[in-house]
Amino acid sequence: MKIIEIENVSKTYALRGKQKGGTVKAVSDVSLDVEEGEILGLLGSNGAGKTTLIKLILGLARLDSGTITVAGYDIVKSREKALSSVGALVEAPTMFSEFTGWENLKYYARLQGGGISDDRLKAIVSMVGLEERIHSKFKSYSLGMKQRLGIAQAMMHNPSVLLLDEPTNGLDPSGIAQMRELFIQLKKDLGTTIVISSHMLSEMQQVCDRVAFMAGGKIKAVKTMEEVNYGVDTFRKFSMECSDAEKAQAIIAERGIECRNERGALILIAEQKDMGEIVALLVSEGIQVYTVTKIKRTLEDLYKEVSR
Ligand SMILES: Nc1ncnc2c1ncn2[C@@H]1O[C@H](COP(=O)(O)OP(=O)(O)OP(=O)(O)O)[C@@H](O)[C@H]1O
Ligand SMILES: [Mg+2]
Repeated sequence: MKIIEIENVSKTYALRGKQKGGTVKAVSDVSLDVEEGEILGLLGSNGAGKTTLIKLILGLARLDSGTITVAGYDIVKSREKALSSVGALVEAPTMFSEFTGWENLKYYARLQGGGISDDRLKAIVSMVGLEERIHSKFKSYSLGMKQRLGIAQAMMHNPSVLLLDEPTNGLDPSGIAQMRELFIQLKKDLGTTIVISSHMLSEMQQVCDRVAFMAGGKIKAVKTMEEVNYGVDTFRKFSMECSDAEKAQAIIAERGIECRNERGALILIAEQKDMGEIVALLVSEGIQVYTVTKIKRTLEDLYKEVSR
């Protein structure tokens, strides 16, 4: 089932100050569906329109045209119903700096109309890995801790959809790994649908089911992780280790196959069906072939392909 449906959505901002009179098309005729229970990555460089698109889904920015529904509810006509099952982290969440992390969460829990128990809050604090510092003042938190508290706030009413704008911003590698585990656990245990924006390609590769590539306010491509990893069409890349890389490279190049030497390993761009023949040829020339590995396409490779 489609939990979020975005249809032909556009948003233009009017510029202020010195650039008054000018406009920026932040989101341009975007259509995108999010399936229930999936983790969707929204990838794009600075200014691509990721934050604007997330704000539009949340009704935090007004649509110029198009429609967005969440769980079947139109976010303009039935905003409250549409957002009742949504938790979000957009840019830096507003927190009181003189309050502790715990007091901030309690404040937001009250805003939700109560009904969120201390036990529930404690469980969430532990999920985001903030137990040790939850009773310290917010102003003493590092960027990563602030981010964790923001995620805890987004999660506290047990939303079935989480929209997270750069959730790993400011986290160290172990913090990033911890978030990744959290997202995977939420999806697995509770079937939470998660949309994550990022420009950290490698990080997205390990957690997303699908990725949408954004550039210049448009969605350039949407790919499943299977398609990203192996490519259905153009990507045929192999790595080979052998006894005499230089000689092997010359033999392979003679066959008209693209081949380069990367720190001792040969990287070949070839058809899978031709690899057996290539290996046989090398062996017949007295070269020992130790390993042949099909290289996964990285999100970075694909990013370059689709943003061309
Ligand atoms: N409130 C605003 N007023 C004017 N222009 C805006 C506003 N918000 C965003 N923009 C412009 O819209 C475009 C898209 O911005 P947006 O913040 O959505 O990009 P982003 O993909 O989230 O980038 P980043 O990776 O830097 O967070 C940019 O050109 C930006 O300058
Ligand atoms: Mg942004």
